[in-house]
Order: sequence, then C-alpha cells, then structure tokens
Amino acid sequence: MLDHLTVVSHPLVQHKLTLMREKDTSTASFRKLLREISLLLAYEVTRELPMTTKRIETPLEPMDAPTIDGKKLALVSILRAGNGLLDGILELIPAARVGFVGLYRDPETLQPVQYYNKLPDHLDERVSIVVDPMLATGNSSAAAVQLLKDAGAKDIRFLCLLAAPEGIKRMQTAHPDVPIVTAAVDSHLNDHGYIVPGLGDAGDRMFGTK
Ligand code: URA
Repeated sequence: MLDHLTVVSHPLVQHKLTLMREKDTSTASFRKLLREISLLLAYEVTRELPMTTKRIETPLEPMDAPTIDGKKLALVSILRAGNGLLDGILELIPAARVGFVGLYRDPETLQPVQYYNKLPDHLDERVSIVVDPMLATGNSSAAAVQLLKDAGAKDIRFLCLLAAPEGIKRMQTAHPDVPIVTAAVDSHLNDHGYIVPGLGDAGDRMFGTK
C-alpha cells in the first residue's frame, strides 16, 4: 500500500516545480515542465501496481518477464487542468484506460456541480488514478473520487502537483482509503480558494488563458 500522503521530494521534481511557480515562466515552458514533472510523479504513484508476466525470448532463452497490465489501469482527469498531468502519464502507460470528470463550483453554494462524466467500464477490476494538479479545497477531488466509487472503483489513488493542508484534510476525511501523491504541500488557501504561495491558476497557466 502507498502511504496516505506521499510528498515527492526528489530534486528533479522540486527544481521543476520551482520553475513552474515563477510568475514569469511562459505558457510553453509551464506546459513542458508539467509534462516532465508528470512523468516523475507517475513513477511514484504507480508504485505497487499489480504486475503480470508474459512469455518472451531473450537472445539466450525464453523467460516469464514482468509487465504492467495497462488494461487494468484507469487514469481519470479532473477537467481541465488534470489533462496536463494525464498526458505525461499516458506516455508511460499508453494502454491505460482514460476517464474524464468535469466539475464546476456553484458560486452560491460553493459546492461542486458535475457537467461531464465519462469513466472507463469495469472500474471494480482496475486501479484508478485520479489526476488534478491542484488539491485546493478538496471539494472537487472528493466529489470526483465519490463518482468513481459510485461507479464501482475500489482501489483509487489521487495524484496532484500541489496540495493545501485544507484539501488534504478534506480528502482524508471523505476518503481515508485514497492515498495522495503530491510534489509539495503549501501553506494555506487564500480567500479565493487559491493555494498560497502556489503557482496561480494551473489551467490558465497551462493553456494561456486568464
Ligand atoms: N486551482 C488552481 O488552479 N490554483 C489554485 O491555487 C487553486 C485551485
């Protein structure tokens, strides 16, 4: 089992994260860094994936060699910023099944409202990795994980780039069975729900919008 919370302190991850935080980092650089960092985070979140073996022949003799069964993995992106993490992980595990969850925050109730939900089938037989760069209030993340559970998922992990203590608490209260992997835990959320010091709006920085 992964720990409840894993902070990936590897120098490459921390270095790239610092570059991403800087306000003058361009959209193109931000996107490139996010792709690179997602490969490194994927390494951590895919620890202990169930393995299978396949019969191969080396130049010397046949052997039963270990492989990941990509079909047993579901990657679920929380739109839209989740797609930045998704792309890198898919490069490493191209056979993974992919789902998308779209949620927006109701301005009055501040609760997440679902506008899109397309999940792979047979989630009960897969390891699901939910991806969203920013674990802020945790409301969207907790709602997305609940959608997966309602669809039958049992083995779920959550991958983000930055987390606020508030978001971690919310997730661990709602879903204590879901390990969280992140590159850093920042100080707090501001009044607008942004992670401080953070990196701003991950979607805007990734897609060059305001
Ligand atoms: N979403 C973001 O993109 N940034 C934050 O700081 C919080 C939520």
